[in-house]
Amino acid sequence: MFEALGKRDLVIQGNSMEVAKNAPAEAVQLVYIDPPFATGGKRVGKQGMSFEDPGYDPVTFTSWLRPLVESTHRVLKDTGSLIVHLDYRTIHYVKVMLDEVFGYENFINEIVWCYSTGGKSSRRFGRKHDTLLWYGKSSRYVFNGDEVRIPRKGGSHMKVERTAEGELVQVKKDAKTGKVYRYPVASGKVPEDWWGDIPTLNRSAKERVGWPTQKPEALLERIIKAASNEGDVVVDWFCGSGTTAYVARRCGRKFLTVDKSDAAIATATARLAAEKEESKEIVPPIVLSAN
Ligand SMILES: C[S@@+](CC[C@H](N)C(=O)[O-])C[C@H]1O[C@@H](n2cnc3c(N)ncnc32)[C@H](O)[C@@H]1O
Repeated sequence: MFEALGKRDLVIQGNSMEVAKNAPAEAVQLVYIDPPFATGGKRVGKQGMSFEDPGYDPVTFTSWLRPLVESTHRVLKDTGSLIVHLDYRTIHYVKVMLDEVFGYENFINEIVWCYSTGGKSSRRFGRKHDTLLWYGKSSRYVFNGDEVRIPRKGGSHMKVERTAEGELVQVKKDAKTGKVYRYPVASGKVPEDWWGDIPTLNRSAKERVGWPTQKPEALLERIIKAASNEGDVVVDWFCGSGTTAYVARRCGRKFLTVDKSDAAIATATARLAAEKEESKEIVPPIVLSAN
């Protein structure tokens, strides 16, 4: 099943726990996972597309996820990374499990993805962020911060000046040392670990394919470019509408993506094929069944 891994793109229909167990060791640079968040019930999107999200308590959820994380550790290269995307329901329990499997010393970032869409409660502050935990397999993990620079915004505490050459710079003076730092506005900055500049997909977003909980391409682009290089293999064990695969291919990576649902596989393969029509150079993925 994995002979083509790294040479061709692969879409596999099956239980990712089983697929991951059988995947080859040290073959993958980046694994991103966006599992069901343990909300309980059915997640339904446009056109009735849906998937079941068992309302596991956080301990059960963590035990369910652990074998997949162990397999992921084995399939990652020494320079590889795992990024786990969850929310307040389970993230703290999963963090402890990830520390055990990957080693506390290999924890890199807790990324907070902020948004403001959706309902609010009068009983508490709005729950308006997801959390992404990033682990390296070793200290040799890849981080391409310069590939994902974002614009420097005005209106910060830093003064903006124009240099003699006409370049705009943000200026900061260190109160203790008196040292002056100048940051060119045009070259932007490496993002911090909280991301408020990537909106969730609204109903009319062009990239929407109708899958519930579909993640924005911009989010995956930042993750893939930051934690892998061109030609690397990127894996998503919870494919859904295929966002990771779609963006990985656009970024010149090879992908393996897995989902147990017929509807998810159909949606992802249609999405990947649609781009093929736009660009003749794209080689279609191999679609396999693990069952
Ligand atoms: C939150 S969605 C992923 C959404 C995706 N990131 C996107 O942008 O469209 C989770 C997916 O995990 C799949 N899934 C849940 N348990 C699975 C399992 N054990 N093996 C394979 N797929 C599974 C569901 O069918 C669903 O498509």
